[in-house]
Amino acid sequence: MKLCILLGSPRKQGNTAALVEEFLRQWEQFGEKSQVISLYEYRIGPCLGCMTCQDRMDGLGCVQQDDFAELFQAMAEADLLLLATPIYAWYCTGPMKALLERAIYAGNKNYGSQKGPALLAGTYVASLTTCGYPPEKGADLWEEGLKRLCRHSKMNYLGMFCGRDLGRSVPFLDEKKRQGVRDFARVLHSTMEGKHHERIT
Ligand SMILES: Cc1cc2nc3c(=O)[nH]c(=O)nc-3n(C[C@H](O)[C@H](O)[C@H](O)COP(=O)(O)O)c2cc1C
Repeated sequence: MKLCILLGSPRKQGNTAALVEEFLRQWEQFGEKSQVISLYEYRIGPCLGCMTCQDRMDGLGCVQQDDFAELFQAMAEADLLLLATPIYAWYCTGPMKALLERAIYAGNKNYGSQKGPALLAGTYVASLTTCGYPPEKGADLWEEGLKRLCRHSKMNYLGMFCGRDLGRSVPFLDEKKRQGVRDFARVLHSTMEGKHHERIT
């Protein structure tokens, strides 16, 4: 099973990265492959809304020459996509938002002269997040948006783990969060067992 983690935090040693590290510690015990892509190292422009991609059925068809195609390829090859992001302004961070905008248009040919494929259909998706507010007030809008994006793109949403940041004076990764993120990895792994065979490509 191929796990692709898209890391959307600008802070390489930050809270989101700490959750990812703990998640991977558990995941590696299952002997599974994984790839971590740090989105702040890539050039990802926001969607320009030109609609060119909607009439291109033979691929992404995006007019922008940046790193989007490479990132989309990694997403398409994954069985499980884990979107790891701090919450900024009640949603994911900018580079992840830009990637999702591009992926939802170039990857779903719904608005051109004819309907085309949903290129990520069948992919499983989950999220690791961190935020300052209690999760139900900090990460709820992100989770709702992600659920709708998955439904629209024929992807399967599996759930979210969110760790609250209580501020600089409190160490972020306490025992409860460690346990929580490890349990999340276990649940995802058992849910995913055998699932990659069902992937529609
Ligand atoms: C620019 C910015 C915007 C933020 N917006 C929110 C927000 O809307 N809601 C929230 O609960 N926390 C918000 N936070 C807090 C972060 O989500 C939180 O500190 C997170 O753990 C940071 O993760 P990191 O260490 O991976 O960067 C914001 C932080 C920053 C820097």
